[in-house]
Amino acid sequence: MPEPARPMQVKNPLNRQPATGLTERAAWKALAGHYQAIRGLHLRQLFAEDARRGERLSVEAAGIYLDYSKNRITDETIRLLVRLAEECGLRERIAAMFLGERINVTEKRAVLHTALRAPETEQVVVDGVDVVPQVHAVLKRMAAFSLRVRIGEWRGHTGKRIRNVISIGIGGSDLGPVMAYEALRHYSQRDMTFRFVSNVDGTDFEEATRDLDPAETLFIICSKTFTTLETLTNAHAARAWSLRRLGDERSVRRHFVAVSTNTEAVAKFGIDTANMFGFWDWVGGRYSMDSAIGLSTMIAIGPEHFRAMLAGFHAMDQHFRSAPFRQNIPILMGMLTVWNCNFFDAQTVAVLPYEQYLNRFPAYLQQLTMESNGKHVTLDGARVAYQTGPVYWGEPGTNGQHSFYQLIHQGTGLVPCDFIGFCQALNPIGHHHDLLMSNLFAQTEALAFGKTEDEVRAEGTPGWLAPHRAFEGNRPSNTLLAERLTPETLGLLVALYEHSVFTQGTIWNIDSYDQWGVELGKALAQRTAPELESADEPQLDHDSSTNALIRRYRRLRNART
Ligand code: F6P
Repeated sequence: MPEPARPMQVKNPLNRQPATGLTERAAWKALAGHYQAIRGLHLRQLFAEDARRGERLSVEAAGIYLDYSKNRITDETIRLLVRLAEECGLRERIAAMFLGERINVTEKRAVLHTALRAPETEQVVVDGVDVVPQVHAVLKRMAAFSLRVRIGEWRGHTGKRIRNVISIGIGGSDLGPVMAYEALRHYSQRDMTFRFVSNVDGTDFEEATRDLDPAETLFIICSKTFTTLETLTNAHAARAWSLRRLGDERSVRRHFVAVSTNTEAVAKFGIDTANMFGFWDWVGGRYSMDSAIGLSTMIAIGPEHFRAMLAGFHAMDQHFRSAPFRQNIPILMGMLTVWNCNFFDAQTVAVLPYEQYLNRFPAYLQQLTMESNGKHVTLDGARVAYQTGPVYWGEPGTNGQHSFYQLIHQGTGLVPCDFIGFCQALNPIGHHHDLLMSNLFAQTEALAFGKTEDEVRAEGTPGWLAPHRAFEGNRPSNTLLAERLTPETLGLLVALYEHSVFTQGTIWNIDSYDQWGVELGKALAQRTAPELESADEPQLDHDSSTNALIRRYRRLRNART
């Protein structure tokens, strides 16, 4: 068996953190003692003792209102969490990120998604070069191209107008674009069709293309590296599908554009590099939806709306960078996640948008949060002695209420929830929106306060049934409220979670910007693919389970008529 790839171990060049581990920090120890003192407190009591708790434990910035009062915290908890953030050097780490220091230590890269939304007047210097003009140059090229497609000036090879855009990518080169398209569909050009292909399962490509005319279809191949197996396999399928109908190699330049950092590979694929939109190694895949990776978003909603989205991102960046920790929305949310996971032992966070357009937001956040903070060693390569990244998951409300909320209300584990809602509906029909929002508010209330057995009995429930109908309550949640889902609000929300992830990663002292955990499976699949494809029976030397699975697959696949 080949040696599994080992994660690189690199010293933290920032060297700003004391050698002691997280759990040895004074603030951590103080939090551990404080947890013992308050873990028995119920939110019923905390609210009863402080009539203004709801307003006090809330904060508003850039049009986003966060109510975090329904967490199992006191003022002392927040004081200690802020102290922990300071002890962990969060202030310095934020400054280091914005200044373009190489805080992605294992890949020796700067982490500068914040430069993607910096106004033209700002300077962000990486290796002696101000990158802001480069960012704006690409944005301008994207805007010009998007407009040409939107007004029908960019035509297909046969002269037909482009009516369909298919974005091919995976991970960060797909989840952001598909989430943003769904989220901002209300603002999209409705006479165009936008689809997204990511899975190497042929069904994804087939279903995305089956009813489309290649003469009217533009493919955007999105891949930072332009080496990703799934994306290149789908890109080649798209090329073949397109050429089957259009027949002429020259059509590729009208029907394929690329978003990548790899000019050579794009050219090799046959895409005219004049139609390539670049980005940079200081943009992580899962932090790239506001780079050229968002080209499909810009075609869908237009450059004006795209710029509004960038302004939202930037407003949250400014808030994160400058607001005091106590009033800082991403920092509060990040620290509350640490509190719930590391002290109350929560393993997951449910993200529950009460907005149908955000139906892919939880899926997008899964990569952002879990690829970033699913790490088992510190920046120095030492095994962590505490839980890191929780599982993020969720569905839009109210659907989840009729599905998994049962477990959140009455299950044995603690599932902290982020509720996201908007005061104005984008599609006001009857009283739908009031019903939707009344459900959001009711859920946060039910989770926090529950219903005791006595209360249940007092309503006439027989004693034997009362335990089944009782709700313990004391289940933590945050509520994020904004006026309306706009491109700007989407930018604010995504940046909020990006910075919350960074806050968590800083406390856990891990590299939130690498993703070595995806490598081993990729390497093993590369070894296995020829074994599945070979015409002759291959010599297998995996473990007995994998060998048997491969043999069975080959036998049954070849038995197909
Ligand atoms: O899953 C690993 C990963 O590297 C992600 O981090 C990235 O977003 C995705 O693959 C796609 O990579 P690329 O844009 O290079 O095709």
